[in-house]
Amino acid sequence: MNFIDLEQQQNRIKKQIDTNIAKVLAHGRYIMGPEVSELEEQMADYVGVKYCIGVSSGTDALLIAMMALEIGPGDEVITTPFTFIATSEMIKLLGAKPVFVDIDPQTYNIDPAKISSAITNNTKLILPVSLYGQCADMDAINTIAKQHNLPVLEDGAQSFGATYKGRKSCNLSTVGCTSFFPSKPLGCYGDGGAIFTNDDVLAKVMCEIRVHGQDKRYSHPRLGINGRLDTIQAAVLLAKFEIFPDEVMQRDRVGRQYTTSINAMQSTIVAPQIRSNCTTVYAQYSIMANNREQLIAKLNKMNIPTAVHYPVPLHLQPPFYNNQLNLPVVEDVATKIVSLPMHPYLSTEDIEKVSRALVL
Ligand SMILES: Cc1ncc(COP(=O)(O)O)c(C=O)c1O
Repeated sequence: MNFIDLEQQQNRIKKQIDTNIAKVLAHGRYIMGPEVSELEEQMADYVGVKYCIGVSSGTDALLIAMMALEIGPGDEVITTPFTFIATSEMIKLLGAKPVFVDIDPQTYNIDPAKISSAITNNTKLILPVSLYGQCADMDAINTIAKQHNLPVLEDGAQSFGATYKGRKSCNLSTVGCTSFFPSKPLGCYGDGGAIFTNDDVLAKVMCEIRVHGQDKRYSHPRLGINGRLDTIQAAVLLAKFEIFPDEVMQRDRVGRQYTTSINAMQSTIVAPQIRSNCTTVYAQYSIMANNREQLIAKLNKMNIPTAVHYPVPLHLQPPFYNNQLNLPVVEDVATKIVSLPMHPYLSTEDIEKVSRALVL
């Protein structure tokens, strides 16, 4: 059994991928070729925003968005300590300070009730992450942001395709960023990402930052980076995007079957809790288990792969180390969380096998 199965997906769309890549090889426009803007148009339409900007990774998406929002030294950015390091890494790289707020014990996303008390005169941005594929509580976050006149950036690296009160992830705040890392719900065959916004000015600035701060050839009104999405990756994504809505439904099927089995068991294992007004894309299917190490050993012995997202909260990682922060929820969750195999092609039998193995 695979933790993620990209092979089955490739078998399904191999012809289309080959055709799309062959087209790029024929026209030879490897940088900013027509596939990039075609993908951007399709994705902006899917997410329901005015602008989609294809970029080189989810990490660069965050960097470009924060550069456009003029985050820099002396600024504070409110964010979650329970995420992949890229989120706060980019804050720190820009010279700003990540201010960690504890998470909600049910969704593992930033707890909006704890944001207001973390806001100071130096706060420049709120940066929630939509973890494991479920959107953070964006309405509550946006309300606080509005009271303080702050922008909100949703790190939707794991939640592309998810909905919140009927709207798509990455269309829920000032800017949304996502990742097309191969193992993400929508992944390419290398690095890739995208930024989404309805803001005309911000979109123009982010497009310039993506190409060395350039507004026209060899004219650079601002600093930027090399943050472009490769044409070949856009061609791969165009093929994958066709089956993405179906894959999101299949992910939902797998997640629901796991949850039904877990909830029927006599155990203390906690299944993911999805808010009634949200849908998730289950970038990870992560459960809470009191006896995690024992459970992992048992599953791995049965050739069932597992992963821990994430064993160390970011405030306890060396670049941000501060053990004086009062973040009890995340420190508890990080010791119990474990992710099970999750992909759209997981069979009913495999889900049953994993579920049965969860009983120690
Ligand atoms: C929450 C989160 N933010 C940012 C990133 C960075 O994305 P990428 O690996 O495409 O740079 C990831 C992906 O690994 C992620 O999970």
